Amino acid sequence: MRDITADNITEAVQQAWGNAPDPRLRHVLQRLTHHVHAFVREVGLTHEEWLSTIDFLWHAGQISDDKRNEFALLSDVMGVTSLVDLLNATPGATIGSVLGPFYSDDSPTVPFGADLVKDNEGTTVLVTGVVRDTAGKPIPGAIVDMWQTDAKGEYATQDAAQDDENLRCKQECDDEGRYAFTTVEPAPYTIPMDGPVGAVVAAAGRSPWRPSHFHFIVKAERHKPIVTEIFFAHDKFVDNDAVFGVRDPLVRKLDAMRDDDGPSGLERRPDKRLDFDFTLVPLQGNA
Ligand code: BEZ
Ligand code: FE
Repeated sequence: MRDITADNITEAVQQAWGNAPDPRLRHVLQRLTHHVHAFVREVGLTHEEWLSTIDFLWHAGQISDDKRNEFALLSDVMGVTSLVDLLNATPGATIGSVLGPFYSDDSPTVPFGADLVKDNEGTTVLVTGVVRDTAGKPIPGAIVDMWQTDAKGEYATQDAAQDDENLRCKQECDDEGRYAFTTVEPAPYTIPMDGPVGAVVAAAGRSPWRPSHFHFIVKAERHKPIVTEIFFAHDKFVDNDAVFGVRDPLVRKLDAMRDDDGPSGLERRPDKRLDFDFTLVPLQGNA
């Protein structure tokens, strides 16, 4: 092919993908070509802009390692992570939200009612709820896996000053599908701003803040797991999340703790309480 012009190059590239044996791969690559070429034409991309885009991607690769993935952060700030989540949402299940980079699968398993506060400062919160299936039946033995920042907005997995297992836990729900733990209120924090994605966010004058949240993965045998977050209505960033993770049903008020609140045997009377029930969808054939 030696007659490539600006008018026929898009079709030529699409044809070049045309022999891909997997029809889905073929379709995705051809449509990607269509949209990327249309974008380049629409904005009239210059040489300088294209070179700085390549440079941006090179730096994203340079700063990434087994703990940090700048491309995932790019997907987050572009809203692609949330768009894929929303388009693939499981009807009937608690709505999902972003996983983020600070999850580690090795959180300590704690008993029902555990106190995670330890040396942490901040407002203490009793977090309780029930894990149910879509028929409203509690799921005994469901696993609630939670991780959060401390009151300074730092995760244990990123902050050398914290014990590696601080403010994260796995808990097995009791016979009534209930979970309960006491912790401290997490704080807002900024996405990592020291890399090329942060540079673009700053250059665009965008807010780098995430509203404070608890992260959860909830799973149970024969049910589809969920990855989600719980946010707080009073947080000043709740309507301006840098990664578009906030969904209406995930925003809750922290209520004041009443005297008769919570399960018996708590180690302390927390300042606040939060009650959040999760719904899991049974896997097909096992309902
Ligand atoms: C988080 O919630 O942990 C997170 C999500 C996306 C980017 C950075 C952090
Ligand atoms: Fe987070």
